[in-house]
Amino acid sequence: MTIPDLPLSDSVSIPQLGFGVFQVDPATTQEVVEQALEAGYRHIDTAKVYGNEEGVGRALAASGIARDEVFVTTKLWNADQGRDATLAAFDASLDRLGLDVLDLYLIHWPTPEHGTFVETWSAFEQLRDEGRVRAIGVSNFRAEDLATLAEAGLSTPSINQVEAHPLLPQVSLREYHQAHGILTEAWSPLAQGEVLDLPEITGIAEAHDATPAQVVIAWHLAIGNVVIPKSVTPDRIRSNFAASDLTLSDDEVATISRLDRGHRIGPDPSTFHAA
Ligand SMILES: NC(=O)c1ccc[n+]([C@@H]2O[C@H](COP(=O)([O-])OP(=O)(O)OC[C@H]3O[C@@H](n4cnc5c(N)ncnc54)[C@H](OP(=O)(O)O)[C@@H]3O)[C@@H](O)[C@H]2O)c1
Repeated sequence: MTIPDLPLSDSVSIPQLGFGVFQVDPATTQEVVEQALEAGYRHIDTAKVYGNEEGVGRALAASGIARDEVFVTTKLWNADQGRDATLAAFDASLDRLGLDVLDLYLIHWPTPEHGTFVETWSAFEQLRDEGRVRAIGVSNFRAEDLATLAEAGLSTPSINQVEAHPLLPQVSLREYHQAHGILTEAWSPLAQGEVLDLPEITGIAEAHDATPAQVVIAWHLAIGNVVIPKSVTPDRIRSNFAASDLTLSDDEVATISRLDRGHRIGPDPSTFHAA
């Protein structure tokens, strides 16, 4: 299985298929991430707020895999936005992960009512320029938030990690991303399981002798999303990774793209301000 690498900048690329650890119990995270690494994943997506960065770090250390062969993302939590708080939170995340250099750091939510993400992004640029993180990006940013960074004269985020799945393919935001050289990364790519029983998905799965989850992951890969499915179930961890071997026809991709219902399963970035 070959996972494509997509360019984040001239010198950094990201494996298009990764492994997410939201809602993975900190007590079992090491074991789960070890299983993911064993299955072949070389891209792990965590966040301070998941409470399991230490487990990810222990799995990386125990794996014996060379540091430069695994791509690690973590995220700045909302309460840590602002220049000094960002720099301190980054140090703490790196400590918990047991890493010297992070691959990708994301602003977790724009929390637009706080008005701090421009200052926070400037601190991210400093971390990147100092070589402490190889690439920087954002999560849950709307087109207007991305435009605010541009208007402030700051650099363009390399990637925006947003809720995206067949019921919410994010057509207009993806167009904005493409126009500005921003990769789209899909969180809750399986809609936490909600899309797996849809007849359009199960029909395509039967035609390929694949699982519905493999079909949905293959659809994300086909349309160019970076995709980070989560599972704590060993056979799902393995079979989701094998989705990279599945090639859908253009008609099948179009059938899945037509499932767009504008249906969110997670919070709306316009109104989500959890501290
Ligand atoms: N930036 C953000 O704000 C944000 C928000 C949410 C998520 N994320 C990231 O995105 C990652 C993925 O999103 P997610 O965890 O919310 O949802 P998801 O990957 O869409 O779905 C995970 C759920 O689907 C189940 N599942 C996984 N593979 C399956 C399969 N082959 N067959 C049937 N069910 C399957 C899992 O069950 P089991 O685990 O029981 O197998 C789990 O309940 C997260 O882990 C996190 O890294 C980011």
